[in-house]
Amino acid sequence: MDDGLKNIYLRDRNCPNCDIYESVLDLIPEPLVIVDREGYIVFFNQAYENYLGISKEEALGRYVPEVIDNTRLHIVSKSGKSELDCIQKIKNRDAIVQRIPIVSSDGENLGAIGKVNFQNKAELKSLMDRLRSLENELSQYKEQSLVQMRAAYTFDQIIGVSEQINHLKEVAEKYAATDLSVLILGETGVGKDLFAQAIHNASPRQHDPLVSINCAAIPHELLESELFGYEDGAFTGARKKGKPGKFELADGGTLFLDEIGDMPLSMQAKLLRVLQNRQIERIGGLSSRNIDVRIIASTNQDLDLKINRKEFRRDLLYRLNAATIKIPPLRERPEDIKIIVEKTLAKPEMQKSIDDQAISYLQSYRWPGNVRELINVVERLVYLSDGEVVSSAEVKHLLVDLFEDRGPGNGEDTEKSNEIDMTRNFADNKDLIELTSMSSGGESKRNLDDLVKEIEKKAIIQALENCKNNKAQAAKQLGIHRTTLYQKLTKHGLE
Ligand SMILES: Nc1ncnc2c1ncn2[C@@H]1O[C@H](COP(=O)(O)OP(=O)(O)OP(=O)(O)O)[C@@H](O)[C@H]1O
Ligand SMILES: [Mg+2]
Repeated sequence: MDDGLKNIYLRDRNCPNCDIYESVLDLIPEPLVIVDREGYIVFFNQAYENYLGISKEEALGRYVPEVIDNTRLHIVSKSGKSELDCIQKIKNRDAIVQRIPIVSSDGENLGAIGKVNFQNKAELKSLMDRLRSLENELSQYKEQSLVQMRAAYTFDQIIGVSEQINHLKEVAEKYAATDLSVLILGETGVGKDLFAQAIHNASPRQHDPLVSINCAAIPHELLESELFGYEDGAFTGARKKGKPGKFELADGGTLFLDEIGDMPLSMQAKLLRVLQNRQIERIGGLSSRNIDVRIIASTNQDLDLKINRKEFRRDLLYRLNAATIKIPPLRERPEDIKIIVEKTLAKPEMQKSIDDQAISYLQSYRWPGNVRELINVVERLVYLSDGEVVSSAEVKHLLVDLFEDRGPGNGEDTEKSNEIDMTRNFADNKDLIELTSMSSGGESKRNLDDLVKEIEKKAIIQALENCKNNKAQAAKQLGIHRTTLYQKLTKHGLE
């Protein structure tokens, strides 16, 4: 046996750490053998004992070809050349083995390690099967993420019978066939996302990705890297490999810039440049790349007001609104309420109906959260209602609860004073107005003051719109002095 190896691996050769080495090598679950330069076995682990049914004592010190079928370890120990992932017939089965030479730091061949990775092909096959199934899973996830990037909704799934919705669907379908940038406007929950998806799905880009980015949800400092991506190590903390931005991901398809009204001014300037040049540059990048992306943007904000306040660039608006779709709030199309409620109730998990009086109650509510809120309420009603039919009494009580929850400061949209608007809307419905005034403890007087304020604010906004923001003319139209108009603008936060 080789002296070098004897000293390292054999317990009976006074090596102080031999016990530890042996125990560690014994822990390896695969059969492992070590030979010296001449091919004599100096180590034989527990797994090899079990595999071949030969004890350590029987194997140690023997010439390896006498112990292991078809081995080449005695050759590798001399050649110093690895033989990896080889098939070796051991005990009449094809095993997959590794043969690794042990070479000293000065290049002298000391021996070789032999390891059986798979004792037969079945083991390998089972691993391959597992690998394949993992690969399948991975490709399914990839597929799913692509599906998520594609649009789920089509125009058929936008429910509505009102003239407004039908007209919008027709117009949007026409826009879909073009490559025009589309700006979708409307209050929260009216279906802006739905329209964006339906437009993409009906467009020639339908087989390419629809990538969305919510400009309000992403911290301003991250928006640029999300949109344009970054190169390797462009900034501290950036992923080493760099990352493509949404523009690149949407290449060939559509980029949906949701809540565009919340985009910071600095980004608006960069976005405008990209829309003009149709080229993007990753952060930290040295070159630009051409991109072919159709833009759909949406907002629930009043962009004209934002432009007046210098919070939104007019030139960007002109770039985005080649085509505009303004979705009216649900309260302006009460006929859609009935069909949306019925379709929601017809879903397999719901399976309930609703009486006509209940529908008329629902139609008299203001729905500040629009269709999203309506669907939410219908789901709550199904959960709360005992019978097969959602009754008008149940609807009435739920609406009164909503009314109470939305006291001043509790509404989603306090600026617009929903409570007041609800009173106005409920005025069509004697039952509800009675109930709400009872439950709100005679607070209707306070509501009247608010109502007056609300009407005043609306009248001012309307006059300014009519006069294209010329305050002198607006004051004249309102029949008040210009100074009074300025005071009122401050009072209503409209300056
Ligand atoms: N006409 C409609 N038919 C069917 N479902 C609708 C319709 N309009 C809206 N919805 C549903 O209402 C919910 C809100 O719609 P969506 O997310 O498109 O609103 P949004 O205008 O983008 O709102 P936000 O401004 O809050 O983002 C979704 O669940 C959507 O499926
Ligand atoms: Mg939305």
